[in-house]
Amino acid sequence: MTRASWRTRIGFILAAVGSAVGIGNVWRFPWLTAENGGAAFLLLYLLFVVLVGVPGLLGEFVIGRRARSDPIGAFAKLGGRNWRPMGGIALLASVVVLSFYSVVGGWVLRYLLGSATGAYFDAPQQFFAAIDYGLGAVGFHIVFLLLTAAVVYAGVDRGIELATTVMVPGIIVLLVGLAAWAGSLPNAAGGYSFYLSVDWGYLQANFVDVAAAAAGQALFTLSVGAGVMLTYASYLDEDRSLAADGTIIAGLNTLVGLLAGLVIFPVLFSLGVPPGQGGPGALFISLAGAFADLPYSRVIGVTFFGVVTLAALSSAISLFEVPVAYLVDEWGVSRPWATAGVGTLFLATGSIAALSQSLFTLLADTVANLALTVGLLGVLLFDGWVLGRVALAEYESGAGRLARALGRPWLYAIAVVLPVFLAFTGLSSVTTTLGVSVPAVGLLVGAVLAVGVAIAALRRPESVF
Ligand code: PHE
Repeated sequence: MTRASWRTRIGFILAAVGSAVGIGNVWRFPWLTAENGGAAFLLLYLLFVVLVGVPGLLGEFVIGRRARSDPIGAFAKLGGRNWRPMGGIALLASVVVLSFYSVVGGWVLRYLLGSATGAYFDAPQQFFAAIDYGLGAVGFHIVFLLLTAAVVYAGVDRGIELATTVMVPGIIVLLVGLAAWAGSLPNAAGGYSFYLSVDWGYLQANFVDVAAAAAGQALFTLSVGAGVMLTYASYLDEDRSLAADGTIIAGLNTLVGLLAGLVIFPVLFSLGVPPGQGGPGALFISLAGAFADLPYSRVIGVTFFGVVTLAALSSAISLFEVPVAYLVDEWGVSRPWATAGVGTLFLATGSIAALSQSLFTLLADTVANLALTVGLLGVLLFDGWVLGRVALAEYESGAGRLARALGRPWLYAIAVVLPVFLAFTGLSSVTTTLGVSVPAVGLLVGAVLAVGVAIAALRRPESVF
């Protein structure tokens, strides 16, 4: 059986953008921005997308395209069987993320319906409290999961590629329309200035926290660490510039995040709702509440939650594809059966998350971040220290002159700089919860890593460095 592949270059790019653009852009990103001092956060986030996100993305692309295999198979093919667990971590991360993601997808579907019927208009707070966890949430999570599974079932080119080629342009066009509308609201300027002017004092006072949040978001939003981008790149069948594609993908993804902010902040400010209070749920509530108070609330609500639905679906599809690819590539299972099996798994895990708020929070806040960080660490160290020259050659294949010139700095960055950085930010999010001093732990990890790197370098003299 021939392995699935993308039909066109733009199809691959849009599928990857579809994965990157998700609830993370329209929900998590504006909420984190609000919580972390507005534009100060935005600035660090943009920096990390360029310096950490894109190199990490390319780290996944290189492995996927080289091996033409699912994450576990890819590590085994390129490095030997002992590396399979590294791919296993990425696979596990995709399961963790989709398990809570599809619950949020269910909420979004509910808001889409509620916008059409006006169900949440009178009491947005009570509406959210009534739908967030419980049997209703399970039901809508299942509907969302079925939509996701239907696309994956149809295949890489006829399902994922076709669907995302329609969805991604749709998301952008609708968001541009909404942003233009939001700009016409009274007091929109207040929203823009909160969003776009930097509060240096805030940044200075909270640098470590803001930086950790910005770094986490830069990784989450580009879908790296869960083997998604690795798997998508494994369906490429000709050598084009990965660096160029990665830059386009990150650029479009950032554009969508920025646009979402240009919709959300003017709306909140024009109704005098303070942003950044009460966490993620509050943004759902206050934004929906704001729609309800505005003229044409149904049209606006349906459009906005329509955008969020498309964004959520195109990301969920990519997460669902990772375990499906594993079953197809490693076990020779047919795509329909693999889809059914993986669907059953998520039916169970998502339902538990939809019933238990504490499990949901644990997955969404801590486990997902940690799994993505460790998953990406595995990818980067493998690229830098096991593949070395091979990774560089794969990166260069199809690359233009500028991209080639950046090849060695890229490899150096993902082998040495990024792992230390990731260990630091990943741990800082854990230690904040535990109340341990971040710099101390960071230094410790840095030292351990440095020793590990030195040992690895000694053992592999043929490596690039
Ligand atoms: N990037 C997606 C978003 O922003 C989430 C995601 C994370 C998808 C990891 C796949 C892998 O919503």
